[in-house]
Amino acid sequence: RIAQKADSVLAMMTLEEKIGQMTLFTSDMDQTGAFLRSEYKSDIKKGRVGAIFNAYGAEYTRELQRMAVEESRLGIPLLFGYDVVHGHRTIFPVPLAEASSWDIDMMQKTAEVAAREAAAEGLHWTFAPMVDISRDPRWGRIVEGAGEDTYLGSKIAAAKVRGFQGDDLSELETVAATVKHFVGYGAAKAGRDYHSVDMSDRELREVYLPPFKAAIDAGAVSVMTAFNDLNGIPATANEYLFKDILRDEWGFDGFVVTDYTAIMELLHHRVAKDAAHASELALDAGVDMSMQDGFYQETLADLVEQDRISEAQIDEAVANILRVKFQLGLFDDPYRYSSEERQKAEIMKPENIETAREMARSAMVLLKNDNQTLPISKSVETVAVIGPMGDNQRDMIGSWSAAGDWAKSVSLLEGLKNNMPEVDFIHAKGADIEGDSREGFAEAIAAARQADFVILALGEAYWMSGEAASRTDISLPGVQEELAQEIHKIGKPTAAVLMNGRPLTINWLDENIPAILETWYLGTTAGDAIADVLFGDYNPSGKLPVTFPRSVGQIPIHYDMKSTGRPFDADNKYTSKYLDSPNEPLYVFGHGLSYTTFDYSPVSLSSRNMKTSDSLQVEVTVTNTGEYAGEEVVQLYIQDKVASVARPVQELKGFKKIKLEPGASEKVEFTITNDDLSFYRKGMNYGSEPGEFVVFVGGNSRDTQSAEFVLEE
Ligand code: IFM
Repeated sequence: RIAQKADSVLAMMTLEEKIGQMTLFTSDMDQTGAFLRSEYKSDIKKGRVGAIFNAYGAEYTRELQRMAVEESRLGIPLLFGYDVVHGHRTIFPVPLAEASSWDIDMMQKTAEVAAREAAAEGLHWTFAPMVDISRDPRWGRIVEGAGEDTYLGSKIAAAKVRGFQGDDLSELETVAATVKHFVGYGAAKAGRDYHSVDMSDRELREVYLPPFKAAIDAGAVSVMTAFNDLNGIPATANEYLFKDILRDEWGFDGFVVTDYTAIMELLHHRVAKDAAHASELALDAGVDMSMQDGFYQETLADLVEQDRISEAQIDEAVANILRVKFQLGLFDDPYRYSSEERQKAEIMKPENIETAREMARSAMVLLKNDNQTLPISKSVETVAVIGPMGDNQRDMIGSWSAAGDWAKSVSLLEGLKNNMPEVDFIHAKGADIEGDSREGFAEAIAAARQADFVILALGEAYWMSGEAASRTDISLPGVQEELAQEIHKIGKPTAAVLMNGRPLTINWLDENIPAILETWYLGTTAGDAIADVLFGDYNPSGKLPVTFPRSVGQIPIHYDMKSTGRPFDADNKYTSKYLDSPNEPLYVFGHGLSYTTFDYSPVSLSSRNMKTSDSLQVEVTVTNTGEYAGEEVVQLYIQDKVASVARPVQELKGFKKIKLEPGASEKVEFTITNDDLSFYRKGMNYGSEPGEFVVFVGGNSRDTQSAEFVLEE
């Protein structure tokens, strides 16, 4: 019925009005790309634009909607989009941090809250989730994704779509999701943003596509093109991606939008000679809506006239877009999302803040904790909080923080004071995030001398990750490590609290500072949540969704590398290794400590044989052997021992987060199906191959117990 309704609107439209629906412009309220177009309001009135982004607020969206509905000829409602990536006003941890929780339900819940806040402010459509797998921490946008793993990334992608869209897009508390950036963007050469991507179809299909497929299967109604070229064809002009894979193989029924000015960028890729040619390539590739460059608006009508594209192609694109507008209920009531009342009730309400704090607590990863340095004893008298992230509200809400107001976020110092009023906290910044001034060192050293415990709050500025924020050196910027070295000399019990948007090379900290807590950017409630962990009110439970390299020279490094023909052998020079570095990373994928300890029983299998039509049960008993109640992410990995193509040494195929009281045990069960054992075989057909498999179960990708079974036809 929705398709018929869309067709009936289409039947009334002129060619110019149709092209208007395929055009998206930013308002001047916010800017997320290179340039603005001042004439967007007159375009709305003329029906020359069908969607607006970077406009929010009940009043403002209603005003723009009124222009479309009352002043354009057909009164087709506008679609309002925005980058609601990790919260709208209440800011949740950045996606890489949320992924560290491995808590799928919580991640769905934060998307639900973000959708409710956004929808109350007139928004219909978010440019999220970003599901680009990345194995390159030089790339700043690694902060926006779920890390390096396809399996974990796919679970999160689906959960985010469910969270944003709910079961019914016409509900006033949901927004349409955009899965982005299709595809390969996280593999930009040398980690440089917008750079070229060259990869085999095998790698594309095994590693980069599955999270998109999971999002589409979960119902995502829009897809955004990537900026990069893929094997020479820019994604925005790539028919193979949008027609063959997305529409034909996956049956996608929503619409495709470009990234910011990506059709225009086909000129810079040098695959298009002028604007018309660029539009022709994009439309032929299956791109329905242009973001911001206005190329469709300027050129499509002439292209139809010249018979270079057909009106049927345009009709198809417009129908794809109109169906989503119908699904959102915009033709029933175009103003239904712009509600001052809901805006007032929903924005940053106490439950939303509480959800943010809950999510933030479970997103932290305890990288190191020698001699139980953490948690800090509650009877401590004086704690020095040293470093540029110690009393810093701005940076810890991270990049892409939508309409979040950093001034409303809780800094680490404030959080500590709020939660531990009986402790005396002294703060010294010591150094800026960047730059080489050591002027603050003396004050920091004096503060450390007076204290019983030192918290070193170090990291990156929020703008050092996110879009256009690649780094070749991923160590702590400025003189922060030097500051840590000076403080270390004083010999007080010390914990480093890191706030950053990517894995950092922190070898010196790892060798010298007894406790290291990775907090990423935790958003609005960061300071309160970190205080909960530092003083033991919450036992850290996060696990790394991405490997921490020892040096940039190891990149790309990820846990599911393929086996080589010359496996590492310390005594044999001619094996796969470096002359100047171990192969192993600093912290492996899945790593994360707790204040308690967990013991794993041997792995037991329901059978030593499995038929392809059957499944296999894996069972392990996990016991909390320490003194704190705690959560553990039990991880299951599989290795195909011999296959027709080189396979990864291990692949994540299951995980469960459990909570155990001290001394308690729980039996954790996983089911392995034929699909978990399937891959693109030698002829690129998908399926499993009979033979031996190893199952590994543990609390990270390295420290595991294993068992073997045989797959039979
Ligand atoms: O959604 C984003 C995209 O991820 C990067 N370029 C700008 C878009 C719109 O803000």
